[in-house]
Amino acid sequence: MPFDVAAVRAHFPALREGVAHFDGPGGSQVPDVVAKAVADALLSGLANRGSITAAELRVEHIVASARQAAADLLGAQPSGIIFGRSMTQLTYDLSRTLAKQWRPGDEVIVTKLDHDANVRPWVQAAEAHDVRVRWAEFDRATGELPVSAVTSLLTDRTRVVAVTAASNLLGTRPSIARITPHARKAGALVYVDGVHLTPHAWVDVEAMGADFFACSPYKFLGPHMGIVAARPTLLETLRPDKLLPATNAVPERFEYGTLPYEQLAGTTAAIDFLAGLTAGTGPRRTRLAQSMQALEQHESAMLKRMEAGLSGVARLHGSPNRDRTPTALFTMDGIPPAEIYRELAARGVNAPAGTFYALECARWLGLGDAGAVRAGVAPYTDESDVDRLIAAVHEISRG
Ligand SMILES: Cc1ncc(COP(=O)(O)O)c(C=O)c1O
Repeated sequence: MPFDVAAVRAHFPALREGVAHFDGPGGSQVPDVVAKAVADALLSGLANRGSITAAELRVEHIVASARQAAADLLGAQPSGIIFGRSMTQLTYDLSRTLAKQWRPGDEVIVTKLDHDANVRPWVQAAEAHDVRVRWAEFDRATGELPVSAVTSLLTDRTRVVAVTAASNLLGTRPSIARITPHARKAGALVYVDGVHLTPHAWVDVEAMGADFFACSPYKFLGPHMGIVAARPTLLETLRPDKLLPATNAVPERFEYGTLPYEQLAGTTAAIDFLAGLTAGTGPRRTRLAQSMQALEQHESAMLKRMEAGLSGVARLHGSPNRDRTPTALFTMDGIPPAEIYRELAARGVNAPAGTFYALECARWLGLGDAGAVRAGVAPYTDESDVDRLIAAVHEISRG
């Protein structure tokens, strides 16, 4: 199925500013249809959820449509989709809820590859409950997290394994499907950070065996909010703190206060946009499978071009392999990452520098808290963007 990047780009008003955006891993640009869905929702009659007025029914429809869209995107059940302000907020909430079941001496596993949002909530919940934290380390040379680095830490006291499906620094994709059977055997739940994977790959939460899978629509062309997918039967066993008059239904009891209905409408539009990246047919999940495959091909071609152009002049961290998102992390001898970032921005190329909250990862790589420059490919990235980045980096290296 062909991927027409020019047709995709035409949907992004922000690109008319003329900047080459490699800052997608921090938050993607937004297509016109998503902005329109948000505006349409806000400009129509809205109310709290209910079954009497047209405004209430419209809101019910917006919520149900967004749960169905997220379920189609992730291969989950609509009644297992929890919406929140961000992945970080949802992970804090769920870590505190799960921690209610922990006993002193229990254990949780976190990894050095993960973004801090899938590390610190678990570490802090563990501290509060006298629970031991075990750290899985990745291979510094390749950036890969071997399955055994996680599974060798499992014991009959492990309650949660918190692991990323893709590193937001290196793009490395640990094999979650090979970790989850071991965790299940040990009686541990697996909480997967899918924030960096979801914009780039076909996701099947069921096949992955993840108990929880978190992602953020603003990384995949949607508005700023977070999503967690889990089995409804698992959610039924959990008791989050909640307001007395708030519903006890699943998944609503995990959603605090009134949902951002306009952002839910935008999220549905973003998922529909992804499903329509190629001219596929059939139900939305089938079209998503086709378009995400075409997107992966496009994005990995852009990554290859980028890495080939940068390799002589910059140091690329991690090593290229099949299981990688289109994310390049680089440094240049003698030039601080923050300066490269500024120089690139001055040339109309947005590729920020830092640790991007993958603090343990950057430190483990020896990059410290200054981190490195990250250039991420998005659906709207084309060859001219990549060539601009490469030319700018070469210019910067010449001083
Ligand atoms: C891999 C990864 N996990 C988690 C997060 C946090 O997501 P949110 O901003 O929705 O809390 C980010 C954001 O950069 C991320 O890249």
